[in-house]
Amino acid sequence: MIRWCRQNDRPWKLVYAVRSRQRTAYYEELNAVGHEFLQFHIDDEAGEVLNVTMALDDLASDEQVYCCGPAPLMTAVANATSDRPAGSVHFEWFNAGSVSPASSGQNSDMTLELRRSNITLEVPGHQSILEAIEAAGIDHPFSCREGACATCETKVLEGAIDHRDFVLSEEQRSKGDAMMICVSRAADGHLVLDL
Ligand code: FES
Repeated sequence: MIRWCRQNDRPWKLVYAVRSRQRTAYYEELNAVGHEFLQFHIDDEAGEVLNVTMALDDLASDEQVYCCGPAPLMTAVANATSDRPAGSVHFEWFNAGSVSPASSGQNSDMTLELRRSNITLEVPGHQSILEAIEAAGIDHPFSCREGACATCETKVLEGAIDHRDFVLSEEQRSKGDAMMICVSRAADGHLVLDL
């Protein structure tokens, strides 16, 4: 993301909180990129964890926040940004070990219509959409297979989505036109995908 911002002449700032300097991945690489945009917070040197509210208090309303880290940090950032405009705060989880709050939790069978491939698939409850299309011989990009990276994002043409990912914002979910097919399912048993 930093490389993209630099290439596209967009302003950025990285606030990097870490327990100790020894655990600071990319320390040299980041320092080489530009000191003035970096704020390291090293817990054992500061004697306390990052004050997230203070770290974010100079944000303009049109700036975007991207946060990645363990659950306590994510929660602190979510609390500190709760009054920011919808869609301006984004979270990427280290892992998807918890259950997305948007999920119904039901793994029901689904019928999938793949509009461009002109294929209809019956997907049993134990199989993900990504697994079903792979079994049908369709190649689709993926990475985490846990709803955390957005690589498998797929356009939805018809049907209600049971979102189970950790990357879409509430605003994106409410549009109902895209889903992470590695984890999300049909809310009412039928979906038409742009595949
Ligand atoms: Fe990462 Fe689906 S493969 S969200």
